[in-house]
Amino acid sequence: ARPLVIAVDGPAAAGKGTLARRLAAELGLPYLDTGLLYRATGRRVLDRGLDPRDAIAAEAEARAMTAADLARTDLRGPAADMAASAVAAIPAVRAALLDWQREFGRRHGAVMDGRDIGTVVFPEAPIKLFVTAATGERARRRWAELHARGVAADLDQVEAELRARDAQDAGRSTAPMKPAEDAVLLDTTDLDAEAAYAAALLLVRTRM
Ligand code: C5P
Repeated sequence: ARPLVIAVDGPAAAGKGTLARRLAAELGLPYLDTGLLYRATGRRVLDRGLDPRDAIAAEAEARAMTAADLARTDLRGPAADMAASAVAAIPAVRAALLDWQREFGRRHGAVMDGRDIGTVVFPEAPIKLFVTAATGERARRRWAELHARGVAADLDQVEAELRARDAQDAGRSTAPMKPAEDAVLLDTTDLDAEAAYAAALLLVRTRM
């Protein structure tokens, strides 16, 4: 049988990372946070003092990326968020990262979280979740995350940045963020992490 791939897509701070990681542990599957690939690419471009919208530079950095880049400690935060989203809108960057993601999933199966796993990377995945939450609630969660890490942030600004990134991710022409036609929508606005996980596990179990 083909190794199982579970696609977990959705906007930032909807809870998909926590949920995907726990599902992977529960099911004994590897977990892949595909956002890291775009974040590391964006960081490499910024390191070179170049613009993340520069298609030539961004493609070169996507192709030159190594495992060490994925382990960097500066991949989270407003600058990294926007650089990731900028390089992610470039078709050549997405193409450069596609085979690697498919190879990863095909080898041992995976729970993969991102924006286009169910639509582009693994359209044949038998289980697809699209995790959402109201923007205000996602902003509060992201703000609390930053606060817990000791990063001072303004809630309105966090929300404005989430909105800008969602608009860029959903509005790009290549692999825009959107639910696959056969994805199950999970709205976590009124669910805590525990309840969201329980709901996701139930959905997955009924489809396995
Ligand atoms: O999920 P995360 O917030 O870490 O993703 C960072 C950025 O990477 C997203 O805003 C999006 O632009 C891009 N991304 C993507 N496709 C994926 C995963 C992430 O375009 N599968």
